[in-house]
Amino acid sequence: MEKSIAVLEGDGIGPEITREGIKVLRAIEEKYKHKFNLTYAPFGATAYFSEGSPFPDKTKEICDQADAIIKGPVGLSVDKMKEIPQEHRPEVGAILPLRKRYDTYANYRPVRLPKALASFSPLREKIIGDGVDILMIRELVGGIYFGKKTEGSATGMKYAEDDCSYTDEQVRRIAIVAFEEARSRKCVMTNVHKANVLATGRFWNEVVEDVARDYPDVKYVSILVDNAAFQLMMNPRQFNGVMLMENMQGDILTDQAGGVLGSLGLMPSACIGPKKGYVEPAHGSAPDIAGQNKANPYSMIGSVAFLLEKCFGLTTESDEIWAAMFEVFKRGYTTIELSGGGSYDQDHILSTSAFGDMVVEIIRS
Ligand code: IPM
Ligand code: MN
Repeated sequence: MEKSIAVLEGDGIGPEITREGIKVLRAIEEKYKHKFNLTYAPFGATAYFSEGSPFPDKTKEICDQADAIIKGPVGLSVDKMKEIPQEHRPEVGAILPLRKRYDTYANYRPVRLPKALASFSPLREKIIGDGVDILMIRELVGGIYFGKKTEGSATGMKYAEDDCSYTDEQVRRIAIVAFEEARSRKCVMTNVHKANVLATGRFWNEVVEDVARDYPDVKYVSILVDNAAFQLMMNPRQFNGVMLMENMQGDILTDQAGGVLGSLGLMPSACIGPKKGYVEPAHGSAPDIAGQNKANPYSMIGSVAFLLEKCFGLTTESDEIWAAMFEVFKRGYTTIELSGGGSYDQDHILSTSAFGDMVVEIIRS
């Protein structure tokens, strides 16, 4: 298979973890005789300082031409970010426009904690049991993130307003993604919402339940978001399967799920639209440790696996990357940020590049 990929390394630890993701991509390319043509482009806060925009036109063109996009985390130190005007900050000036441009409505965030990784979780061993394996699916281009924003003052009182709305079409298409995923995995589909308070919550539910009628073979569970947050700590395994949520609730719950894993460094993600998708780690750019070869590249390498699966349909290749990453931990190695709780000797604690090298070595063997 021949494909073109735009690579947006981003800020902070972005370049160094992206390097490891690409290393693994190249190993897969060689082993399976694919051809991936990469084009690098500036994106994020660094791009703002060098190009005057966090999502420059030339980057847009490169992304438009590519079959898929790999994106690193963005953002610099708090002080650096203060130098950037609000509309050019990478969140609202780059990430949201990227999502909108390719209508990447389906955000996949896996919460995978097999036995080999169980000790990283702050939760007790008996709670993790045989392991957690949840695929969180978050609606990514609707809801309050993209609603009208107003700031003003009425009769002397200052106020701010964010509109939250969802259309039938917006809810339906993401619900279909979730049910299809649950059907192919033969697992439960848990729908998360706030239907007891919000109009958008009731509406969300109505549409999801309508879609559910087309999937009588899929076990369907519905849960309020606050209860879901609680249950995720008490007994995450009850959700093993697919969880569906709207944009803002998904932002919060997926970070909480990173807490179940013990690190956001263990959470890759894919953002898929009707024509094109991009992948990115779910964590930030950790400018405090940038350039030190300390960051965990797992979520970037996992994002590359996601790209192969979700953008190119290469599931064997994707599974191979996941298996290789789990194998690193099975062999008793760990990454620096995960080494805290355990008793690892120095040569079992892997730097960013050493982790990538080991994944590649396993793929090649
Ligand atoms: C995420 C991030 C983004 C979001 C920010 C950086 C805009 O937190 O991908 O979860 O809120 O969606
Ligand atoms: Mn987030």
